[in-house]
Amino acid sequence: MVSLKSLFLAIASVASVYAAPAEGVELVARADTGPVGYFSYWWTDGTANATYTSGAGGGYTITWSNNTGQFIGGKGWNPGTSTRVINYSGLYKPDGNSYLSVYGWTRNPLIEYYIVESYGPYNPSSAGTNKGSVNCNGASYDILQATRVNQPSIEGTKTFLQFWSVRNPKKTPGGSISGTITLSCHFNAWRSLGMLTGSSHAYQIVATGGSGPSGTSTITIA
Ligand SMILES: *[C@@H]1O[C@H](CO)[C@@H](O)[C@H](O)[C@H]1NC(C)=O
Ligand SMILES: *[C@@H]1O[C@H](CO)[C@@H](O)[C@H](O)[C@H]1NC(C)=O
Ligand SMILES: *[C@@H]1O[C@H](CO)[C@@H](O)[C@H](O)[C@H]1NC(C)=O
Repeated sequence: MVSLKSLFLAIASVASVYAAPAEGVELVARADTGPVGYFSYWWTDGTANATYTSGAGGGYTITWSNNTGQFIGGKGWNPGTSTRVINYSGLYKPDGNSYLSVYGWTRNPLIEYYIVESYGPYNPSSAGTNKGSVNCNGASYDILQATRVNQPSIEGTKTFLQFWSVRNPKKTPGGSISGTITLSCHFNAWRSLGMLTGSSHAYQIVATGGSGPSGTSTITIA
């Protein structure tokens, strides 16, 4: 029989796997918003000169300068869903390569997905294969799929598919930005193209990622 103590340790170690290399899960009940918490995620490749600051509620700020490494971070939920309607707003001012997107994972099968709202000079889905397009929240999104071979994942180094929806045209970077993302619109479009996400969700965030030399992104989600 599994003792309560070993069960607790198993849960705790799973939680630390989810959290690493993230900054950690933030679950804070607030009197004004009810028991709503946000998951906070931060990753760099070890060389990125970037700073993640977790703000109140669904807010965060990432700043980077003289940067040559890669980073991604943001706030969201753990686990994610395929039906959430996400609002985001803030200031997105990247200099060079960067993207602002919903970013998440499913398991069984392991899928990494991005719904990209804005990006710098380089479209981060460029390595993908075009599968079609869909209209969501009043805009057109290109749909792409890519295969990642022996790459880092939430299950260690694995080979897995990436699904992409990329707003076309992108929201203009360099200043104020806001939007609404109805996830079911994207997940349904992917499914209709044979792009099947997994049976369970891992984390799901509104992420700022980048590899460009400098920038700042201050985003609040709801
Ligand atoms: C930028 O990075 C380079 C290489 O790491 C370093 O030599 C240089 O001093 C840095 N510049 C600033 C302003 O920090
Ligand atoms: C890293 O960024 C900070 C400010 O964000 C800057 O002062 C510092 O020079 C940078 N470090 C390197 C090694 O470039
Ligand atoms: C998201 O924004 C829409 C309007 O664009 C609003 O109706 C909805 O209540 C907002 N949802 C949240 C969770 O703030």
